[in-house]
Amino acid sequence: MSTTNTTGDSKDAITGSDVKISCRSVWKVYGDNADAKFQALSKHHTNANPLRQSLIDEGLIVAAADVSFDVRAGEIFIIMGLSGSGKSTMVRCLSRLVEPTSGEVLLDGEDLLSANDKELIKIRRHRMGMVFQNFGLMPHLTVLENIGFPLKLQGRSSQDRQARAKEVIKLVGLAGREDSFPRELSGGQQQRVGIARSLAVEPDVWLLDEPFSALDPLIRRQMQDEFLRLQSLLNKTIVFITHDFLEALRLADRIAIMKDGQLVQVGTPTELVLNPVNDYVAEFTKDVPRDRVITVGELAIDAANENLSKQLPEGTPTINGGTTLDSVMPLFESHPHGVSVEHKGENLGVVTPAMVIKALAQQQQPA
Ligand SMILES: Nc1ncnc2c1ncn2[C@@H]1O[C@H](COP(=O)(O)OP(=O)(O)OP(=O)(O)O)[C@@H](O)[C@H]1O
Ligand SMILES: [Mg+2]
Repeated sequence: MSTTNTTGDSKDAITGSDVKISCRSVWKVYGDNADAKFQALSKHHTNANPLRQSLIDEGLIVAAADVSFDVRAGEIFIIMGLSGSGKSTMVRCLSRLVEPTSGEVLLDGEDLLSANDKELIKIRRHRMGMVFQNFGLMPHLTVLENIGFPLKLQGRSSQDRQARAKEVIKLVGLAGREDSFPRELSGGQQQRVGIARSLAVEPDVWLLDEPFSALDPLIRRQMQDEFLRLQSLLNKTIVFITHDFLEALRLADRIAIMKDGQLVQVGTPTELVLNPVNDYVAEFTKDVPRDRVITVGELAIDAANENLSKQLPEGTPTINGGTTLDSVMPLFESHPHGVSVEHKGENLGVVTPAMVIKALAQQQQPA
């Protein structure tokens, strides 16, 4: 895995206590005698790449190869990659819906892979929410019953279930549709039911596998807004899979890019756009408008210049370092000398129209 350095509005470094989910050298190999072959071959290889190749040469499918990453508490962590690159495999390994062939998955520092069946069911029912691409609703149950279902599995009373289901129904904007059946709902509404159902148990960890990909662009955009609104209220730790870089850009704190079962790069959207480690990553980001990615914090810190600060007239606004360039540009009309930039109360410097133009004019080059 390769990460790049950030500047400006970079997120703080991960410390042990921040980590919610940790994947360490996770492998998932499919095929005849996959486990035994993996055990045998892994004795001969200390490095992941030759091991992966040997497994493939044996006719096995390597869906995840030595994947390691940490997800912080409260973070939206996005996994991207071409079809078949191992995204669903990884997100399923996080809940052990897929059993990893090797490696460790830690949830709050505890090894999920050593949990017995009973413990695992408890963790899934109480601490994890999952949303699947195909909605996965039960057709013979109403909206209220679908959403109450995981609470029933938890053994909660009918009254309690109804009360909680009604709360989440309201949260996702489906009040009034409690008694509808899934077939009576639009795709977007069905996915809202899926989302409400996954939230009913108040999970700490929310896993979403391409939740919006079946929706048309307009509804998709509404669902993204809805998702961000929910996250601002609920502050879950989220692992979210998507094919769509613009979706990732809107939602992500950090993005992990997978290729052929391997993790190619993990970083903030800006890091991936400005410093892609290879052509594969660059290809994902090539159509991304730079003004929607680069933040004023990054420019201000690069150009930290006290003289510029002093030249700003009275009444110059101060904006947050995380603001992207597309949002700052309209301000230059009334503040042509630039604006002050701060992050978490610290003055980062100044951003001027000239700095923005220069940043946007630079060609992006794969590293
Ligand atoms: N049960 C299985 N048995 C054999 N191979 C499998 C199984 N599940 C997944 N695979 C293979 O593992 C690889 C990774 O699959 P995965 O579903 O994780 O990809 P993905 O990145 O989620 O793709 P998509 O974007 O199409 O959903 C693929 O080659 C797939 O064919
Ligand atoms: Mg998938």
